[in-house]
Amino acid sequence: MSDIGKSVTQFIIEQQRAHPSSTGEMTGLLNDIVSACKQISHLVNRSGIIGLGGAAKSENIQGEVQKKLDIITNDVMIEHLNWTGHLAAMASEEIDQIIAIPAHYPKGKYLIAFDPLDGSSNIDVNLSVGTIFSILRCPEGVTEPIEADFMQKGTEQVCAGFCVYGPSTMMILTTGHGVNGFTLDRDVGEFILTHPKMTIPEDTAEFAINTSNRRFWEPPVQRYVEECMQGTDGVRDKNFNMRWLASMVAEVYRVLTRGGIFMYPMDSKIAAQGGKLRLMYEANPMSFIVEQAGGASSTGYQRIMDIEPTGIHQRVPVILGSKNEVERVVRYHSQQ
Ligand code: AHG
Ligand code: MN
Ligand code: MN
Repeated sequence: MSDIGKSVTQFIIEQQRAHPSSTGEMTGLLNDIVSACKQISHLVNRSGIIGLGGAAKSENIQGEVQKKLDIITNDVMIEHLNWTGHLAAMASEEIDQIIAIPAHYPKGKYLIAFDPLDGSSNIDVNLSVGTIFSILRCPEGVTEPIEADFMQKGTEQVCAGFCVYGPSTMMILTTGHGVNGFTLDRDVGEFILTHPKMTIPEDTAEFAINTSNRRFWEPPVQRYVEECMQGTDGVRDKNFNMRWLASMVAEVYRVLTRGGIFMYPMDSKIAAQGGKLRLMYEANPMSFIVEQAGGASSTGYQRIMDIEPTGIHQRVPVILGSKNEVERVVRYHSQQ
């Protein structure tokens, strides 16, 4: 029987029943995330009307100017997740230290790292933004987690997902058994399964990279993009299309839908900080989803999910998407 049309809640509960060892705690946590994302979707949709556009007067720990919605969506995530008893601690792009569960609430067995609003530079131009999250197990016996307890490789993730607030609001989820996409039906307030078992084609003729950084890239990425641009006149002997949305959630959603390669590679401008995108709440969850959909994800030198993390705000280069293209870029890195 087809699962299409099921609510995300029913889908998650049925998936959990298929794993008899499961306690249902993950189902509860995912329901909390679903509630938070529904509220964020509503706020993003109405931001112009209720005066939530534009910058706040603050910077986050990474020295980036925060948008009003960066701060508000961060609060929405925390308020939906800190009291329900499913989490032992949280980490957010917008907060320097890890976020403890208030002492008067029960604690659970999971840790979450999230980017409450990805692509927030797009808010004021009415383009797609999103929320990304990664769920890890709290190490056995730990009741007061510290940052070191989050320092687990991407391969340790038990669940990852993201929401895109675009023409429709969508949630993409994996618990390590494939990737499923749900669309928010605003009339009934439910995410409905519309895109079961999403897969990324192995080949593609579409690449996404911010070419304004071209002169700062390393030689393997220069070579790869140059060959794409040469199209049928060059060694690839096929023409490529290009996209850049400056919103990782929207780019990864496109890659999941029709294939493609997405790159925010190392460049000399950002080398000192390790890259652009953050490992714990951008690169790892997206890599888990992409691999579960049959794609690949690498820094160019190493599989992203094999990186031993060193900090919650650590940055890494990201090259992900259609397997054969990612493998080609990795090959170019090894041939230097
Ligand atoms: P965030 O809004 O959470 O800081 O993330 C933005 C990220 C990512 O979504 C996007 O791919 C990239 O930054 C865009 O960077 P450029 O503005 O350098 O193109
Ligand atoms: Mn982001
Ligand atoms: Mn963000």
